[in-house]
Amino acid sequence: MFLLPVSVFAQTNGSIAVGASLTATAEGNSSSSWLSPSGDFAFGFFSLGSNGLFLLSIWYAKIPDRTIVWYADWDNEAAVAPKGSTVNLTANSGLVLRSPQGVDLWKSGTGAGVVANGVMNDTGNFVLQDRNSESLWETFNNPTDTLLPGQTLERSGTLSSRQSETNYSKGRFQLLLQADGNLVISTINLPSNFANDPYYATDTTSGKVAGSEGRELVFNVSGYLYVLRENGGKYNLAVGEAVSARDNYIRATLNFDGIFAQYYHPRNFTGNVSWTLQWSEPDDICQRITEASGVGVCGYNSICTLKEDKRPTCKCPKGFSLLEPNDPYRGCKPDFIQGCKEDELSGTKDLYDVEVLTNTDWPISDYVQLYPFTAERCNESCFKDCLCAVAIFRSETCWKKKLPLSNGRVDASLNSQAFIKVRKDNSTLQFPPMPNLDDKKTKKKSSNTLIRMESVILAASIFVSFMFSAAACLGFFFVFRKKRVRSVENILDSNLLSFSYQELQEATNGFTEELGRGAFGVVYKGTIQIGSGVQVAVKKLNCVIQDGEKEFKTELRVIGKTHHKNLVCLVGYCDEGQHRLLVYEFLSNGTLASYLFADTKPSWTQRIEIACGVAKGLLYLHEECSTQVIHCDIKPQNILLDDYYTARISDFGLAKLLMMDQSKTHTAIRGTKGYVAPEWFRNMPITTKVDVYSFGVVLLEIICCRRSVDAENDCEEKAILTDWVYDCFLEGALDAIVDYEVQALGDKTTLENFVMVAIWCIQEDPSLRPNMRKVVQMLEGVVEVQVPPCPSPFFRACLKGSFVSQV
Ligand SMILES: *[C@@H]1O[C@H](CO)[C@@H](O)[C@H](O)[C@H]1NC(C)=O
Ligand SMILES: *[C@@H]1O[C@H](CO)[C@@H](O)[C@H](O)[C@H]1NC(C)=O
Ligand SMILES: *[C@@H]1O[C@H](CO)[C@@H](O)[C@H](O)[C@H]1NC(C)=O
Ligand SMILES: *[C@@H]1O[C@H](CO)[C@@H](O)[C@H](O)[C@H]1NC(C)=O
Repeated sequence: MFLLPVSVFAQTNGSIAVGASLTATAEGNSSSSWLSPSGDFAFGFFSLGSNGLFLLSIWYAKIPDRTIVWYADWDNEAAVAPKGSTVNLTANSGLVLRSPQGVDLWKSGTGAGVVANGVMNDTGNFVLQDRNSESLWETFNNPTDTLLPGQTLERSGTLSSRQSETNYSKGRFQLLLQADGNLVISTINLPSNFANDPYYATDTTSGKVAGSEGRELVFNVSGYLYVLRENGGKYNLAVGEAVSARDNYIRATLNFDGIFAQYYHPRNFTGNVSWTLQWSEPDDICQRITEASGVGVCGYNSICTLKEDKRPTCKCPKGFSLLEPNDPYRGCKPDFIQGCKEDELSGTKDLYDVEVLTNTDWPISDYVQLYPFTAERCNESCFKDCLCAVAIFRSETCWKKKLPLSNGRVDASLNSQAFIKVRKDNSTLQFPPMPNLDDKKTKKKSSNTLIRMESVILAASIFVSFMFSAAACLGFFFVFRKKRVRSVENILDSNLLSFSYQELQEATNGFTEELGRGAFGVVYKGTIQIGSGVQVAVKKLNCVIQDGEKEFKTELRVIGKTHHKNLVCLVGYCDEGQHRLLVYEFLSNGTLASYLFADTKPSWTQRIEIACGVAKGLLYLHEECSTQVIHCDIKPQNILLDDYYTARISDFGLAKLLMMDQSKTHTAIRGTKGYVAPEWFRNMPITTKVDVYSFGVVLLEIICCRRSVDAENDCEEKAILTDWVYDCFLEGALDAIVDYEVQALGDKTTLENFVMVAIWCIQEDPSLRPNMRKVVQMLEGVVEVQVPPCPSPFFRACLKGSFVSQV
């Protein structure tokens, strides 16, 4: 915003006769202001920029960044007037501001007297005088947000802040010399003037010593600001010398952000000089404004931090945005709807991410306090609680808080963690509930519903591009179904499409373009002819068990219900006698294996993202989807990358689909050499911990960008990745495992943590391995990673260790 002052009209002695007037006109017109004799101050119409509005005010006429020291206001509004408005000096009404249409916008009044003339004084005071030069009205007695030397504030006198630097309407902060003599600054609850408890006070009340209460706030002409007590004593607002009032302009302003500050500016200057801060109160407004003092400088849901000049800045947490886009002090609004009903309607449990903020607190808005507690449980407790917006953990105590959050701030002394829930997708759009087609009685009605839903779906599909993760599969489904109304009856449960073998044969051009080959079958690229064609990956399952019709559908249903941004989305299937095929979305960037083991390494940050993505996908499979899924074959070949290089796990659910009874013990070994957990070789039950083991190996591969087994490695010590990394870990030589990669070494804490997490995951004893939830928390730095024990007695380093101890 540029505040462009209109050019000023030189007065001879600052005296203005009754009948004189000013007009709010364009730049450069001399009839828009009256100057004080020295030319230091101007009274008149101040252009508020290109919007054609003017403010009736007083400003420093000689300073380029013309600072307004007084402005006309009424009813909490500044007297902003359109171009062409006039101000008249009248005998009986004092100053009268009138719009071009002739409406009176503001009047000064005259007390009871009759005005003889006005004076724009060199002190910055505009005075209406009667015939005897007695003051009838003056701007010094009707201050806005600024005091000038020579000005005093009587008991019950106030200063009010503006809304913002450029909005002169009444703001939220008020300085008041109370009737008891105490000078206080508080927030007020607009639009009422109800003041909250002060966040600054001079405590100049009578107290124990009679006569020590403040009589008035004095800004003496030398530039000293103090509360003058009844007994003549002074309470100085600032310590130290004031600058020379002869050589400097001096002012004290209650800023729009609640800081009361004194500034000076040399009267004679060349070049670009601005105001210098002399002192300000309070010391730390972010901490000072507490519950009883009001909502805080930054408004709801915001976080206040102090700049070097002790002025506050406000910032929204992730997932929140400014309530008023141009005004960071008005607070933040969540970009999502959070509530129990919303969570329920969304159907998936994986709605939120947790952001961790250190030393950030919203000291009120608690609804529950848990003690004694751990950080991990605190995070989890909030995550699972649909009422909880954020949890603060500090000194074994967990405070759960609800929206709106107030008085948010950063305080380095807190030593706390804030776990704030952020909804994963911004959209609160709800898809219509899926009809249950298994239910024969409702079949007819359902298909009617479906037809009606088509239009909804069409509209919804426009939003599909916004719907990441969970919604992606649904989006797919909608696009397809628009064209495939006839096969709706074949949809299993909710959202999988049924294809005929012939359709898939055509789609894949007779199964020609092979994308990959795995334990479960061969994958072909295909295109389904809708619009410009949608690319899919079609997996032809081998080793299909003939009579498994029912189980096949049951398992497909489980897979079909999984929706997570780190999982590949199953779109449909074909189940025609011998032919069992699965149709997946096609991901453009291939497998993690090809990405990781290519000639150029992916960047460290990208690898971190991918590792966390894989961990979250697994966590979802293990704990968050309706039926637990053990993957059994986690390896980089089974992890795909989408357009944004987000890691997406594929082939999940297939182990079970292909009739492996996971609840019993096995002799037949699944999985892939180099990644399989030791329990596969032993007579031990197979649990989610087998995936944790494989993840540990994959994590090491991601860190090191090399394969877990490298038989061709010249150096025998390096051939087995897990063994070698553990050697390096013990020797504190982690730079070797990342091949002295600069970016990774610059992020040593993460590197160390990731390696330790991986070592925890590859513990031979499954019970020592963390679960995936813990893994995710450790990777994200939410919980501390302890130093892991030796993964297996067969590790080289561990053999050495036991040898040494035996000696
Ligand atoms: C300006 O104010 C001062 C202090 O109140 C006073 O002494 C002086 O006469 C005033 N000047 C004019 C031109 O009224
Ligand atoms: C100033 O803020 C008030 C209160 O928020 C608002 O009503 C008014 O429109 C704003 N004025 C300008 C010029 O933006
Ligand atoms: C203003 O106040 C200061 C501090 O109390 C004092 O030293 C100084 O003499 C005062 N100046 C005038 C002109 O009264
Ligand atoms: C969510 O909204 C925020 C702020 O509007 C934006 O920065 C972010 O990219 C959005 N995220 C998604 C997934 O759309």
